[in-house]
Amino acid sequence: MRKCRFCERPAIVRLRYANLPLCDEHFKKYYMGRIKKILDKHRIRGEILVAVSGGKDSMALLHALNEISKVEDSIGITAFHINLGIYDYSQKSEDVVKKFAKEIGVVLITYYLKKEIGHTIPEIARTSRRPPCAVCGIIKRWVFNKVAYENGFDYVATGHNIDDVSTILLKALLTQDIYTIIRAQSEFSPPKIDMKLVGRIRPQFYLSEMENRLYVELNNIPVIEEACPLSIGATTHKYRSIWDSILRMNPASQINLVRSILKLRSQMIVDEPQLVQCKKCGYPTESKAGICAFCRLMERVHRTGE
Ligand code: AMP
Ligand code: FES
Ligand code: ZN
Ligand code: ZN
Repeated sequence: MRKCRFCERPAIVRLRYANLPLCDEHFKKYYMGRIKKILDKHRIRGEILVAVSGGKDSMALLHALNEISKVEDSIGITAFHINLGIYDYSQKSEDVVKKFAKEIGVVLITYYLKKEIGHTIPEIARTSRRPPCAVCGIIKRWVFNKVAYENGFDYVATGHNIDDVSTILLKALLTQDIYTIIRAQSEFSPPKIDMKLVGRIRPQFYLSEMENRLYVELNNIPVIEEACPLSIGATTHKYRSIWDSILRMNPASQINLVRSILKLRSQMIVDEPQLVQCKKCGYPTESKAGICAFCRLMERVHRTGE
């Protein structure tokens, strides 16, 4: 193995997209630097609600943001976990998040979906034609925003990584899903507090799953290894596997695809979606009928008597 770019120690990893060999210590520094750069670029200050699923991405994010908040007085963090009611998987996820938040001394808010909205994800998904992960995404987004708004948080941070984001966009390109491309989210969405919309940050937007996994291992962070049972067979998993061969040919291809789409989008003249407050819950929606996707799902659950 080669030497670390910044010291005499042997490298434990070579980041191919940057041709950067790094030792244990310098990899951790580099990783934190990448997260810090996103926070600085968007001048993030205030209270951040960190959405933690128990998986490696968001557990790495919680650890990194906690380290940053220890030295940055202007940033405070609270961990947030939703128990989605997905059989054993949700209990195991909750346990791992609880244990880790306690270990690093971060306050954790746990939201029990069944208790708060009366239904679990499997119950809601059964009544919808959409795939379970899409249903789950709608519910999670609504809950993150509501809990953050009601508790006075400035931002919600999530653990989306470049593998997730590039796969969503690749799939959208290959299926002519223009809506997803036009609405593609970047690493930052500003708050619109008059519309009850809290800001969103995705500090690992340009970091890969491999980098998050390495950060977790080097810091001995516990994570839930198993995948959500409802996500098995999801089409995004199939699209994800395409990247292996493309990345072998061009290690920066995921980052380049995402940057290209975001750049193209910034050049397009697109009507900004008109946000209105949902007639039922009062949270923002782009729906012309004025009922948000969350409330539409809930209407369906109640109609079918789940
Ligand atoms: P996913 O939608 O499963 O790809 O997750 C994307 C991000 O949402 C994760 O990186 C977490 O930040 C957050 N997240 C997912 N599931 C949960 C959960 N049960 N509780 C809190 N945050 C979550
Ligand atoms: Fe949402 Fe699996 S975690 S469907
Ligand atoms: Zn080094
Ligand atoms: Zn609503």
